[in-house]
This record gives sequence, structure tokens and C-alpha cells, in this order.
Amino acid sequence: MLATLTLLLGLPLALATEPPTCAPLVPITFDNTTVPRLLGQWFYIAGATRYPPHLAEIKALTFDAFSFFPGSHEDELNITEIMRLNETCVVKNSKIQVLHQNSTLVHVDSNQVASMATLIQSDKDLLILNEINIDSPTLSLSARTPNVSKEHMEEFKAHLHCLGFTEEDVFYTSREDACPLPGEKTDEDDTDPQLG
Ligand SMILES: *[C@@H]1O[C@H](CO)[C@@H](O)[C@H](O)[C@H]1NC(C)=O
Ligand SMILES: *[C@@H]1O[C@H](CO)[C@@H](O)[C@H](O)[C@H]1NC(C)=O
Ligand SMILES: *[C@@H]1O[C@H](CO)[C@@H](O)[C@H](O)[C@H]1NC(C)=O
Ligand SMILES: *[C@@H]1O[C@H](CO)[C@@H](O)[C@H](O)[C@H]1NC(C)=O
Ligand SMILES: *[C@@H]1O[C@H](CO)[C@@H](O)[C@H](O)[C@H]1NC(C)=O
Repeated sequence: MLATLTLLLGLPLALATEPPTCAPLVPITFDNTTVPRLLGQWFYIAGATRYPPHLAEIKALTFDAFSFFPGSHEDELNITEIMRLNETCVVKNSKIQVLHQNSTLVHVDSNQVASMATLIQSDKDLLILNEINIDSPTLSLSARTPNVSKEHMEEFKAHLHCLGFTEEDVFYTSREDACPLPGEKTDEDDTDPQLG
């Protein structure tokens, strides 16, 4: 009885100390600056998902650098990607179709739609992708540099928290697992690999 009372009285207090309402994920509405903004080198930093096939993938992925460049059509971007999957560095080419009519990116791998995503509003040097063609939320963070500031990481984690993910659900890449980028001199201290 007393426990129940404490619980009832304690609840509003506990709620009051929760962080304020979750900021909604605001998708970017594509315009003619969207594609130029995507071009160039990016590094995948972290991601979270409950979708089993993606979960297996992000668990195995400890490094991922990818570059967007103009493809065969105006609304198409080609991607070259170098990633470390289960210890091994793998190079992959795929492409992105940019659907302007509903601000969606479609990732096409080996002529099959691999995923669809919206871009979440954030800093211009960050790429937050929200996958939409699956039931479970899937959010990933990439950036122009292999690491991001504490503030940017906190912002990403706040989004994840609001989607119901906990720290155990978040998988990070690691700079120790970096694969040599194409054309990179391995003995060079490359502190700013940003290309564009
Ligand atoms: C982009 O679109 C805006 C308005 O929609 C227009 O004013 C501008 O000239 C366009 N820029 C280019 C490079 O097409
Ligand atoms: C983009 O990739 C496609 C294969 O998906 C290839 O046929 C095409 O030549 C590439 N375009 C450029 C500009 O490299
Ligand atoms: C990575 O290793 C795990 C565990 O050994 C395995 O289940 C998974 O299929 C592997 N993934 C890839 C992409 O090789
Ligand atoms: C955009 O359109 C494609 C194809 O018409 C659809 O599959 C996708 O779900 C749409 N995206 C959004 C955000 O509704
Ligand atoms: C990334 O890490 C390096 C070395 O630890 C640091 O100097 C740099 O400020 C970091 N970059 C960001 C965006 O936090």
C-alpha cells in the first residue's frame, strides 16, 4: 500500500526529470542543393537497427568510407565504398537514385533495391539516414571526417534514444580498423581526408 503510494507520488517527479520532449526527426526536402551537398567523401560512424539482416551487417562493419560521385543520370549517384567486414577490407560499387518527388534516396546494389532512406536535418558535415522501407527504425550517422564532435554524437544519440534504442543497440566503427582509401599513401599522416 505504502509502496503503491510512493510509486504514485514518485511518478510525476520521475517524469519531470526526464529530458524534454523528443525532437522529431525532420526529413530534408530535396532541392537543387541536395545532390551537390552529398558529393564527395564520407565516413560511416555509427548506426542502430532492430532489423535482423541489418543488425548482422552493422555488427560486422568496423570501418566504412564511401564516396558519392555523379552517375549516369542527373538523379543518380555512384558510390565507391571501402569497408571492413569481419576483419576483411572489401571494396564495393553501388549507386543511389535520388527521388526528388518525395525526397527519398534509393540505394541500388547489384541492380536490386537494397534500401530506401530519407535524410535527416542536421549539420552540413553530417549525413543522418533514416531507413524507411522496413518496419523497424534504422538510423545511421556518417560524417565528412572519421570522427565527430561530442556534441554531434550526443545529438545523434538523442535521436536514437527517442526511437527507443539503448546504448547496447548502437554499433560504432573504429579508426583502428581503417582500410587504406584508394590512392592513399599509407605512410602519410592524413589528418584531413576530406575531398570535397
Ligand atoms: C535552385 O533553385 C532555386 C529556386 O528553386 C533557384 O533560384 C536557383 O537558381 C537554382 N539553382 C541552380 C544552380 O539551379
Ligand atoms: C556508375 O555505375 C554504373 C554501374 O552501376 C556504371 O555503368 C557507370 O559507368 C558509372 N558511372 C560513372 C560516371 O562512373
Ligand atoms: C561476420 O561474422 C559473423 C560471425 O562469425 C557472421 O555471422 C556474419 O555472417 C559475418 N558477416 C559477413 C558479412 O561476413
Ligand atoms: C517515395 O516513393 C517511392 C516510390 O514511389 C516509395 O517506395 C517510397 O516509400 C516513397 N518515400 C516516402 C518517404 O514516402
Ligand atoms: C577527431 O579526432 C582528432 C584526434 O583525436 C581530433 O583532433 C579532432 O578534433 C576530432 N574531430 C572532431 C570533429 O571532433
